[in-house]
Amino acid sequence: MSKKTEPIPGTSDFFPEETIQWQYLEGKAHSVFSRYSIGEIRTPVFERTDVFLRSIGDQTDIVQKEMYTFKDRGDRSLTLRPEGTAGVLRAIANKGLSQGDEQRVYYIGPMFRGERPSAGRKRQFHQIGVEYVGKVSPEIDAECIILLLDYLESIGLTDTKLLINTRGISGDRERISGTMSDYYKPHIDTMCEDCRRRYDTNIWRILDCKNEGCKTITQNAPSMIDLISETSRIYFDSVCEILKYTGIQYQIDPQLVRGLDYYVHTVFEVVSNNIGAQDAIAGGGRYEILNPGQKHPLIGVGFAMGVERLLLAKNANKSDLGKGICVDIYIVSLGRPALQKNFDLASSLRKQGFRVLMDLENRGMKAQMRTANKVNAKITLIRGQSELDDGIILLKNMNDSSQIKVQFDEITAALKPFFNRS
Ligand code: HAM
Repeated sequence: MSKKTEPIPGTSDFFPEETIQWQYLEGKAHSVFSRYSIGEIRTPVFERTDVFLRSIGDQTDIVQKEMYTFKDRGDRSLTLRPEGTAGVLRAIANKGLSQGDEQRVYYIGPMFRGERPSAGRKRQFHQIGVEYVGKVSPEIDAECIILLLDYLESIGLTDTKLLINTRGISGDRERISGTMSDYYKPHIDTMCEDCRRRYDTNIWRILDCKNEGCKTITQNAPSMIDLISETSRIYFDSVCEILKYTGIQYQIDPQLVRGLDYYVHTVFEVVSNNIGAQDAIAGGGRYEILNPGQKHPLIGVGFAMGVERLLLAKNANKSDLGKGICVDIYIVSLGRPALQKNFDLASSLRKQGFRVLMDLENRGMKAQMRTANKVNAKITLIRGQSELDDGIILLKNMNDSSQIKVQFDEITAALKPFFNRS
């Protein structure tokens, strides 16, 4: 039976044992992306609904079934962002980007989709994403993919597969749709209800269908690469060539179209073998997005990774991302006068960069030592009235339980051998 204190299905609470892993992934994002001269952008978690409608596409699953849309008190239709790209592009359009200029940004934050929750599929999930906006070329697409793989390598995730495909230019669309329509026509009555609707509204979405029967039919569908124009083909070949020269392994997946309508040309996904059905840990591609009220679309390329799925893949890898909050020094105070004095000691040690936890309850020695053990403290510093009188403190190495007396003003030097600090 579900408890009233449980979070809404598809959302989660994250405690320090988990957030330490999130901080690790976020820290790597800050350091890897800055090496590519990419700065962070923060945009609102909700936007006017039309920011998402046109860019993501009104026939996509996201817009049709998954958006959290509500009216505010001013009767405006607002939506919790289901992904990051549309809002980031809205922000860049609002700030203004001159023709030929570019803006490269990354973002980290929660996204919201009303999907059926399962392992790796949440209603509030988190993305780390990158957008290269304003300039496009096969070289920029390739750098974006290289950056994604560079990040994954930095967190030790190398057991993955890069899938890549092209959707061609918008001019190719009509021809491709026509060929697909001819192919699916004899099968459509046997396909799922969604695909029957997609056949009339947005036939490309059929390629994305997860229904087993529809997937079997799609397996023999004409390949996008055979249908695109010469221009699109040259573009795609150039992207693949750079990846090849860089020694990047990839697999062309002719069925990869991605679930958002703003893509043109290159699309890609990184999948992991060991996280179950929701195996995409990252996805992206080149896009054109027309913002409400703007005459020209903004162009760019980017990707987003799902933080929950990165962690699933990391943990399946049995890699160690951190063991919760670590304590370097636990301070035991015996009696109120020692407790009062130890506030100053804790402050001074924290200023020196140690992670310090101190008993604040004036408990007995045993209870305090139990906590010191529980939090895995490396060192315990113990001070009671007699230590105060003698100007000393007891330093206990929790590893081997050895204990020494240290002159109070020599603590820093005494701690040095236990911590590998410069
Ligand atoms: P997306 O493929 O919809 O692309 O999402 C990117 C990643 O977010 C997925 O590969 C997955 O790891 C994670 N993700 C998506 N939905 C969920 C969910 N319900 N629960 C958990 N994780 C999820 C985009 O969002 C595009 N904006 C990516 C992009 C950026 N394209 C160009 N620039």
